[in-house]
Amino acid sequence: MSDQLNASVVGGKSFTAVAINCASKAGEWIKTKLGNYASLDIKYSSHDLVTEIDKGSERLIKNLVMTHFPHHSFLGEEGVEPGPKASAKALEDKLDAEYLWIVDPIDGTTNFVHGFPFFCVSIALAHKGDVIVGVVYDPVKDELFVAEKGKGAYVHGKRMSVSSEETLRGSLVATGLPADHHYALPVNLKGIAAVAPQVRNLRIAGSAALHMAYVAAGRLSGFWEIGLSSWDLAAGALLIQESGGIVTDTNGKPYDLSVRNVMASNGRIQDELIAALAAANANE
Ligand code: IPD
Ligand code: CA
Ligand code: CA
Repeated sequence: MSDQLNASVVGGKSFTAVAINCASKAGEWIKTKLGNYASLDIKYSSHDLVTEIDKGSERLIKNLVMTHFPHHSFLGEEGVEPGPKASAKALEDKLDAEYLWIVDPIDGTTNFVHGFPFFCVSIALAHKGDVIVGVVYDPVKDELFVAEKGKGAYVHGKRMSVSSEETLRGSLVATGLPADHHYALPVNLKGIAAVAPQVRNLRIAGSAALHMAYVAAGRLSGFWEIGLSSWDLAAGALLIQESGGIVTDTNGKPYDLSVRNVMASNGRIQDELIAALAAANANE
């Protein structure tokens, strides 16, 4: 048995079992609070929201992870100062950790606040910078997406694989409207203007991690967005890779934890999507 596998059963709980337990406990709690949060704060801009439920979800997950793996490092969105610079720096400071849990306690807070049922909990575990477990849980649909590096990706125990579209013309693609209106939003809007006429249709549903899980499940052909953070992407990236898709940055560089401008797809439309953004000067 490898060191990594030995380490994964410390205290009798596998990394994946703990990640699933955290995501489902947090998700169930979040669902009970839908339409019922007490405080709404603004973070980086008036488009960047946080509630006490985001913070409570992160606390719950962190406590559970630390109970099982007290020597592991933890990077959660709500433990970091708002804004793109602070999130990049927070990751950089922890990249040397042997085991790093990367958590978005609610991805899709704006949807949660408005009662729009498209948000999730995203939990990833990286070993020496490499994501080895990824879990995305949608509490509204009770859908649990799980991937283990080298072992495939599953939704409700069913193996996932990416979709088979070969061209943009037949593809359903998703993107986001970033909270950073100085840099990321204008670039993404240029991309939207360029891509929308070329694809079958475009979706902007408000949760990057859930969009990534949908690419893995073959429900979307691709997803891109400018200016995301490690906690938006880490779990979803492994889900897609383990479902046969490709994740790079918007210039085609292979995914790693520091990627902020993401391009993810079934692989077949990856080059066409990157070229569409490049032609519009919308890839960074
Ligand atoms: C946001 C969502 C949204 C994306 C934003 C993210 P949050 O995360 O993933 O879809 O467009 O860029 O910041 O703030 O809900 O965790
Ligand atoms: Ca997020
Ligand atoms: Ca969040």
